[in-house]
Amino acid sequence: MGRLVIVSNRVPSPRERTQPAGGLTVGLADAIKGQPSLWFGWSGSSQGKESPAPTPELAEQGGVTYATIDLTAKQHEGFYQGFSNGILWPVCHYRLGLMQYSREELETYLEVNAIFARSLKTLLKPDDVIWVQDYHLFPLGEALRREGVTSKIGFFLHIPFPPEALFRALPGADLLLADLGAYDVVGVQTQQDADNMNQSLSALGVEVQAQSFPIGIDPVAFAKQALRGETSKEMARLTQALNGRALILGVDRLDYSKGIPERFRGFERLLQRFPAHRGKVSFLQIAPVSRGEVAEYKALRRELDELSGRINGNWAEIDWIPLRYITRALPRKVLAGVHRRAAVGLVTPLRDGMNLVAKEYVAAQDAADPGVLVLSRFAGAAPELSDAVMVNPYDPDEIAEALDQALTMGLKERSRRWEAMNEAVHRVTAATWARDFLAVLNATPERKPHAS
Ligand code: G6P
Repeated sequence: MGRLVIVSNRVPSPRERTQPAGGLTVGLADAIKGQPSLWFGWSGSSQGKESPAPTPELAEQGGVTYATIDLTAKQHEGFYQGFSNGILWPVCHYRLGLMQYSREELETYLEVNAIFARSLKTLLKPDDVIWVQDYHLFPLGEALRREGVTSKIGFFLHIPFPPEALFRALPGADLLLADLGAYDVVGVQTQQDADNMNQSLSALGVEVQAQSFPIGIDPVAFAKQALRGETSKEMARLTQALNGRALILGVDRLDYSKGIPERFRGFERLLQRFPAHRGKVSFLQIAPVSRGEVAEYKALRRELDELSGRINGNWAEIDWIPLRYITRALPRKVLAGVHRRAAVGLVTPLRDGMNLVAKEYVAAQDAADPGVLVLSRFAGAAPELSDAVMVNPYDPDEIAEALDQALTMGLKERSRRWEAMNEAVHRVTAATWARDFLAVLNATPERKPHAS
């Protein structure tokens, strides 16, 4: 059997390698189990020296070879902060107005993809199967083909793909779309993403077709963690702090795609319009800082600092804090326990590829007394989790009404909704995602050597 070669901008850090954290890491860890694998990507360092093909640093763990390269400060700025996160990220999340386009950053993005290809090429064997992950690496397949790689190469986009008119307003979009033609299989999260991408691809006559492969979590492992987390000492502190109040929980990277200010306003509307909940609920928002060097992320952080301060200033009592807002990550076991404790999981992204937090909230619930998921219609998880209380995340009044509905819902309805969602979370998992994608990739016919 050939090796599976995974390429992603972020490679799990040594700690995550023994205890996979995110859904992507868990899914891929499952996929590479039992077969020789190589995982290639960025080291996380931006102190590298200029080189057309940097030598990767290798580390072995659990039968997997991890190979990483450093970027230079200029590459990190143009490729990661600039084109990937200042340009592609907002466009793919339907926020053209937030894009800060720069030709130079597009060029650095293409150049870093070429560097990845040249550096990876030195490690490849003829019967490797390559699986490229996410928006940082749209052009990598084409760059590998230019290096003479004829292996099967698949691509999976973890974030949304917008309608053609929106995506093709991005200068350089047609180039990225044409480069997708170098892949044997292109996967996206939802059918809507696939339809959008296929509209763009067929307008340009690119041969490849996008297919939907929704990603999931490892629900069994997360449920176990949640149960164990329940007895942690942090949970005892939380119980004391709640003092019998119902917990509303939000967990997101601090990112404008997550709709956090709109959610805070929704919570404020709940306090204004439904006075019965005053003093009886506690909203905990965990939002670890992310991409803090990018201007839009800085602005969001300022906005949330102000908004959270204002809400607490207006509504707190001497013995009640309505909103707790934490910009750090919690240990995974504690987080799982907090999910289990929360009466309401409030997941309201303005646009999201999948949103694994929604699936984690469901998996963590106590079957005897499950909480209620309030979910944005614009999360990739919405079609699968249609038994959530659905909201339009732009409307704080709708969020307030959904919160009131969730907080007053009887056990019978909570159980019915949760059972249907829990079934969905166990049906499509990280493992089935990887297995289904790789089955399609492995079944594609061999390629002839590159013509050009
Ligand atoms: C999203 C992207 C991932 C990315 C993650 C964290 O989930 O799809 O590719 O790794 O965010 O963002 P960061 O910029 O810290 O890698």
